[in-house]
Amino acid sequence: MERTFIMVKPDGVQRGLIGELISRIEKKGFKIAALKMLKIDEELAKKHYAEHIEKPFFPELLAFITSGPVVAMVVEGDGVIAGMRKLMGKTNPKEAEIGTIRGDFGITTSQNLIHGSDSPEAAKREISLFFKEEEIIDYTRDL
Ligand code: CMP
Repeated sequence: MERTFIMVKPDGVQRGLIGELISRIEKKGFKIAALKMLKIDEELAKKHYAEHIEKPFFPELLAFITSGPVVAMVVEGDGVIAGMRKLMGKTNPKEAEIGTIRGDFGITTSQNLIHGSDSPEAAKREISLFFKEEEIIDYTRDL
């Protein structure tokens, strides 16, 4: 089954939206296969956001993503990578449709509540940065 890496970012945790965001993922029918709360350090942030290190917004992104706890997840389902990106809405919450997570709750691009992998390659890489294979639970979810 397809897997993706999802993370409730520090603003989502601070605003008390962990439950709301997980609830939307579960209600959609995707399965949470691994879940943990952690604080990201600079080393992990630079690995996770390696493609953005040279971007002008990287210092802001680094400061933000290491500012407080995040909730990291492995989410499984048929077409889950594209499906989660639809559920999250566009990166810039001002452009995200109402009904999506960022459209409903987000305000700025830098603090946009949730991260999701954008390709199968990214999903594999990001999952392996945050989870050991034995932390990903194989179970059946009866819908
Ligand atoms: P995310 O999906 O986690 O992947 C990279 C993140 O960089 C993105 O969400 C945004 O939070 C952030 N980002 C992208 N573009 C900008 C920008 N122009 N200014 C600030 N942050 C940005």
